[in-house]
Amino acid sequence: MGSIWERDVLQKELPALQEDKQCDVAVVGAGMAGLLAAFYLQQAGLKVIVLEADKVARGQTAGTTAKITAQHGKFYANLEKTLGPRAAATYAQANLWAISQYQTLIEQRHIDCGFSRRTAYLYTRGTDLEPLERELAAARRAGINAQIAHPQELPFAIGGALAFPNQAQFHPLRFLQALCATLEIYEHSPVTVEGTHVLRTPGGRVRAGQVIFTCHFPFVNYPGLFFARMHVQRSYVLALSGAPALQGMYLDEQEDGLSLRSAGDYLLLGGCGHRTGEMGPANGYAPLRAAAKALYPQAREVAAWAAQDGIPADGLPYIGRYSPRKSDWFVACGFKKWGMSTSMVAASILSDLILERENPWAWLFDPHRLHLRAGAKNLVKDGGKSVRYLFSGAFPRASCTPRQVQPGAAGIVRARGGHYGLYRDEAGRAHYVSIRCPHLGCHLQWNGQDKSWDCPCHGSRFDIDGKLINNPAQQGLLAWQEDS
Ligand SMILES: Cc1cc2nc3c(=O)[nH]c(=O)nc-3n(C[C@H](O)[C@H](O)[C@H](O)COP(=O)(O)OP(=O)(O)OC[C@H]3O[C@@H](n4cnc5c(N)ncnc54)[C@H](O)[C@@H]3O)c2cc1C
Ligand code: FES
Repeated sequence: MGSIWERDVLQKELPALQEDKQCDVAVVGAGMAGLLAAFYLQQAGLKVIVLEADKVARGQTAGTTAKITAQHGKFYANLEKTLGPRAAATYAQANLWAISQYQTLIEQRHIDCGFSRRTAYLYTRGTDLEPLERELAAARRAGINAQIAHPQELPFAIGGALAFPNQAQFHPLRFLQALCATLEIYEHSPVTVEGTHVLRTPGGRVRAGQVIFTCHFPFVNYPGLFFARMHVQRSYVLALSGAPALQGMYLDEQEDGLSLRSAGDYLLLGGCGHRTGEMGPANGYAPLRAAAKALYPQAREVAAWAAQDGIPADGLPYIGRYSPRKSDWFVACGFKKWGMSTSMVAASILSDLILERENPWAWLFDPHRLHLRAGAKNLVKDGGKSVRYLFSGAFPRASCTPRQVQPGAAGIVRARGGHYGLYRDEAGRAHYVSIRCPHLGCHLQWNGQDKSWDCPCHGSRFDIDGKLINNPAQQGLLAWQEDS
């Protein structure tokens, strides 16, 4: 199931790398973060090569709802409390700058991508406005011109909303299509690391002075240790036609609430998310469809898709040097579902680091900060979960026998002297896969919505025949098929 952005943009195939090359900067991963960083570095006169494992902008960027905003949920009050007013003001400044920077770039290059300034609303369906008022006060102290508002255009009653005026929305793939025309990019060129300055792809190597990892979840585990301080959450989006257009962009202050924005003739309704690999009855397409039906009974679903993003332990993206031990490696990840504005922030920070310029925001996003106060609780919680999934990956148990797995269903079964995941397709054919994640060994979980095997530790995903869909794993699963 593709997003409306993907359907709308027909990108021509770009070549895979087929020879050895040299450059100043190699960028691994052609999503929003990688392409923006590549663009600004190339503008500064460096020779930049972008290597993409699959196709340009067909990773998580293709599944975004593409609000460009400094309003990232209920965030500023907590950031101010844990890291202080300077941190909150820096975060606000960086993200407000990012919105203006998109506008400047889009106007300068005449990019037809539906960019429009909108008000972002964080709404509550309850009557207690106190949490929003606290957030309002912190946002104002951080320099955001916010206010409490009572917009009337939603199809359900709200108690009020925190409004951030002058935010924006756009069509992310039309924007990136224009940017790509100026860059040297190789598709279908998955990277493995051969040395600090040498990247290997199946068709050739790239020797680079500096390397930027914008591959969503960094796949080099040591150094960096991103696996120890970031998990992944998955979320769902429906595009509806025949629903009244919205002027504003909306997000529930509750984490399990709905996100809404208009996109051309469509209304985008998002939500029902969960940690990748941990799906419950309130998650996925079914509850989102039920909400859509209740709110917009006259509307028709034209597209449905899911995407996922890295959630850093302390709530701040990791942007900067990959590790103190690798001064020529850089990273941008952990955008916690706000990677439109923060990819632009990342492009600014990474360009400035590489070009040895001062950057006013780099200190806050430094991947090697130690914000214990902000992240300790989540580190302990995530660490506990990873240990549990690692343990169950090492000592799996069968949930059923192969015969008990019905067409369209999956289970963990004993086969060939071990434990395997089995999905039976509608024709009755059995698709077996190993259920230990090749990244670090966690126990994969069946995702019946997207028919994939998903890792709850760091979000790697595999199709029914073990083919890698999402990293940080770098290889597929052992797999075979059997007739019934
Ligand atoms: C449902 C949903 C809605 C969202 N809505 C919003 C929103 O409204 N506003 C907002 O600001 N943010 C939003 N986000 C977040 C935003 O979409 C992401 O943060 C952003 O798209 C991430 O971009 P990226 O470049 O890091 O990752 P990606 O777009 O995934 O790009 C990474 C690329 O790296 C490639 N890659 C991986 N491994 C390798 C390798 N070994 N070699 C070469 N290439 C590799 C992948 O193929 C991929 O193309 C949303 C997220 C979700 C899940
Ligand atoms: S993604 Fe890290 S163990 Fe699976």
